[in-house]
Amino acid sequence: MHASQAPEALDERFAIPGLARFEAGAGGLTRLSISTRHADAHIYLHGAHVTHHRPAGQPSLLFLSERSRFAPGAAIRGGVPIVFPWFGPRAGVPDHGFARISEWAVQSVERAGDGVAVALALEASPATRALWPHEFRITCCVTVGAALDLTAEVENRSDAPFTFEAAFHTYLRVGDVGQTSLAGLEGADYIDKTDGMKRKTLAPGPFRLDAETDRVFPGARGSCVVSDAVLGRRVVVDKRASATTVVWNPWNDKAAHMADLGGVEWRHMLCVETANAMDDAVTLAPGARHAMGATIRATPA
Ligand code: BG6
Repeated sequence: MHASQAPEALDERFAIPGLARFEAGAGGLTRLSISTRHADAHIYLHGAHVTHHRPAGQPSLLFLSERSRFAPGAAIRGGVPIVFPWFGPRAGVPDHGFARISEWAVQSVERAGDGVAVALALEASPATRALWPHEFRITCCVTVGAALDLTAEVENRSDAPFTFEAAFHTYLRVGDVGQTSLAGLEGADYIDKTDGMKRKTLAPGPFRLDAETDRVFPGARGSCVVSDAVLGRRVVVDKRASATTVVWNPWNDKAAHMADLGGVEWRHMLCVETANAMDDAVTLAPGARHAMGATIRATPA
C-alpha cells in the first residue's frame, strides 16, 4: 500500500466526521466505512469494491462470502466486483480483468443529500499495460443512500480506439436462492455458459433458478426485480447504459469446489450483473467516454 493510501492519510483529506472514515478492513486492506441514517456501507480501495451496503433496519443488500480472500492480487467473493476491461476468462490474464484486483485511488468523498458519494479512479500503469495495451482511466462513483448507486465511466486516453467489456458483478443477498424469482428478462435471448455457449430464449414468466445458472443476456437494457420470499422484500436493479444482464449462481456442486465460498453460502447469493459484455462490448474512440450505471434498492415484498 502506498503511504498516501493509508487510512490516516486518507482521513486527513477526505473524512466526513460522523459519516465517512477510512479504516483497516479485512486482511488489513484499506476501506471507507460509511454510516448514514439511511444505510451503512464499506468500500475497499482494492477493486473499488463495495462489500457491504445495509439499508437501515434491513438485512444487507449484498452477499459477502465468509471465506472471501482479502489480499492484494485476489478477487473478493461477494459485494460488487468491478469487471473491466474484459468479462470472463482469457488465456494468460486474470479472469474478469484487472480492475477488481487493482488498488484504486480516492478522488473525492462528499455529502450527497442525506448520503455520501465517493469517487475512485484507476489509470493505465506499467502493470495494466502488460495485460492490456491501452491508455485509459476508469472512474467509479458510489453513492450510498437508502439505495446503492454505482457509475463506472471509462475514458479512452489512447490515440486509437479500444474495445472493452465491463460489469458490476453484483452479489445480491437473498434468503434462499431457490425461493426467489427474477422478473425483467421474460422471453429474452441468452447465451448459456453452462451449455457450450448455446443461444437460447428464456420462457415467459418470472425466472426461478433451480440449478447452476450462468447466463449472459445481450441486449437486455431493462430493470430486473428479484422477489425474495424468505427475506420478504423485492430488490430492484435499475440500469443505465448497460446492454447486458448476467445471471449467475454456481449451485451446490460448483460451489463445493470454490475455496472462497463456504458450505451452503451459495443459497444466500444471486448475481444479477449490470454489464456491457460479449455482443455488447463497447468501442471507444480516442478521447471518448462511456458511463454505465446501476441503482439497487430494496422495497417491501
Ligand atoms: C460470472 C460468469 O459473471 O462470474 C461466470 O458468468 C463466473 O462464468 C462467475 O463463474 C464468477 O467468476 P469468478 O472469476 O469471480 O469466479
